Amino acid sequence: MTSIVILISGRGSNMEAIVRAAQNEAWPAQISAVISNRPDAAGLDFARSHGIPVASLDHRQFPNRSAFDAELVKLIDSYKPDLVVLAGFMRILTGEFVNHYEGRLLNIHPSLLPLFPGLATHEQALEAGVKEHGATVHFVTEALDHGPMVIQASVPVFSGDTADTLAHRVLKQEHIIYPRAVRWFIDNRISIDQNRVLISPPESQLLVSQDK
Ligand code: GRF
Repeated sequence: MTSIVILISGRGSNMEAIVRAAQNEAWPAQISAVISNRPDAAGLDFARSHGIPVASLDHRQFPNRSAFDAELVKLIDSYKPDLVVLAGFMRILTGEFVNHYEGRLLNIHPSLLPLFPGLATHEQALEAGVKEHGATVHFVTEALDHGPMVIQASVPVFSGDTADTLAHRVLKQEHIIYPRAVRWFIDNRISIDQNRVLISPPESQLLVSQDK
């Protein structure tokens, strides 16, 4: 049984998509805990109501990033995870944290990386005038919003789009690709060659949305 710990900061819809896929597809995995840095994160209620242990660690109670991350590692490791999933976890992580979970730390970023790292990705996409946008699931490395990419989903950008309509279109795809990537990890189908993620047996690592 693969043990998974999911970190959230807010709504937690990606966490929800993973939990639902795990249940519907009877994954050989256990969501051992959902942890938030915000005690009032809405997603914690969903996790609780699905019988998943929840915990929160308020970053505001720590003097600095290293102190918070060190405590967070202790908390996460108490659930003995094989995989740690960042799902809307809005914290920049220290190198110590990232290295501790090397090869077993996934994140989802709402852009077609390496385009638009950082925040406000949908605004960035609209400002740049791109006609295609999307989301990326990637292994986390020390460089912010970098690291080997597991799967991407692309969506069209329409002339009437606002950041909200675009975010909504992208989020629907996030809810498909994140559970898929986690499942690949559980099934031991992922290997990393330099910066490239390979899936065996091969399967498409690009989802193109059917939105018109
Ligand atoms: C998602 O768009 C995710 O890509 C980004 O933050 C958002 C979190 O949404 N990192 P949710 O909390 O999963 O609903």
